[in-house]
Amino acid sequence: MFPRGRKLLLGVAGGISAYKSCDLLRRLQEQGFVVDVVPTSASLNFVGKATWEALSGRKVLTDLWSEVESVPHISMAKANDLIIIAPATADLIAKLASGRADDLLTNIVLASTAPKILVPAMHTEMWLNSATVENVEILRKRGFVVIDPDEGRMTGSDVGVGRYPETGRIITEIDKVSVQTADLIGKKILITAGGTREPIDPIRFIGNRSSGKQGFALAMAAASRGAQVHLVIANSDLPNIDGITTTVCETAEEMAAILNLEFPHCDALIMSAAVADAKVLNYSEGKIRKEALDKVELAKNPDILKSLAQIKRSGQVVVGFAAETFTSLDALQKSGHEKLSSKNLDLIYVNDVSDGAIFGQEKTKGIIIDKFSNVIKVPEISKDTLADILLDQLVHKLG
Ligand code: CTP
Repeated sequence: MFPRGRKLLLGVAGGISAYKSCDLLRRLQEQGFVVDVVPTSASLNFVGKATWEALSGRKVLTDLWSEVESVPHISMAKANDLIIIAPATADLIAKLASGRADDLLTNIVLASTAPKILVPAMHTEMWLNSATVENVEILRKRGFVVIDPDEGRMTGSDVGVGRYPETGRIITEIDKVSVQTADLIGKKILITAGGTREPIDPIRFIGNRSSGKQGFALAMAAASRGAQVHLVIANSDLPNIDGITTTVCETAEEMAAILNLEFPHCDALIMSAAVADAKVLNYSEGKIRKEALDKVELAKNPDILKSLAQIKRSGQVVVGFAAETFTSLDALQKSGHEKLSSKNLDLIYVNDVSDGAIFGQEKTKGIIIDKFSNVIKVPEISKDTLADILLDQLVHKLG
């Protein structure tokens, strides 16, 4: 787990200037980037795998067919916040422009949603060839940042445009792009995950089916976008996330106590935990016999979200969740609107959890509503993707 923009993939294509990327790698590491190197097989003619492993201090995969059990082209596409390909040859540029994916690097590029920077380096004739010019244009239109090559001496005696740029110029471009993706830098985000439990006796409790997956996905996504995250976890079995402050609690009252302390210091609260609405008034130190179970008295728990949202200061953003069992979208939307306004929220994510859907699952589906009644219908997507969509909205609300 690294802050957004600090986990970078360096693709190296088969050009003689591949050796210059060794210096680039070093400079990136000095800037605090953690770099995975993915050389194409052609590039290994210029710089070998051992060099990349020694310099990066990380394992280097060179083909699509190694470690397939971990599906590296997808895991690397997801893990890296930025892809830079230096040098990018005319052939690689052509492949990317046509959307081909016939080796590890091109598969990663196709699977990644991260910003991508290309550093073309080739002979002048190849750079100026209309095929390359058109391919570069296509890639720029698709959002690739293509750094113009330098002018000067080529591999042989020729002079012209097409040289691998000075490392400093590449680093400046990377810095520009990585700052754009770190849109939560400097923000403190308080996130709750899991479900509270209200003890009845030493054996039993009132609880719910929340696994914590959505809250953890939010925490991970917010941290990777540069936020300082405090995750308050109620009864989740998920492993801790490195680099994220976590506090564990059991009951709604414990959660409320933590949030009351932390809320004034945060820029946003995302309340994805399922809080038990009721607690037991007459907790028993000994096991309650079944004949006496009807003597268990319940009282309402405080509505933590509502009480914090009432005291939010201007600029602070509060996001709620609501798990419902309405199968119609209209009913879901209506109840979302009501909860959003009665609890003074900026955003709410409402979902239908009927028939075992969503709780404990990898996927989610629902509706995001904001206080201006803007509605986003979310089709079935992963909880990680929802986390990023909600954070996009949050960034917008934080201004
Ligand atoms: N919530 C809370 N404190 C509670 C109950 C809920 O902070 N005691 C928060 C949840 O974390 C969630 C939101 O309120 O973000 C919606 O909870 P939900 O139970 O759906 O709404 P309620 O207002 O409790 O309405 P009801 O249970 O009657 O549907």
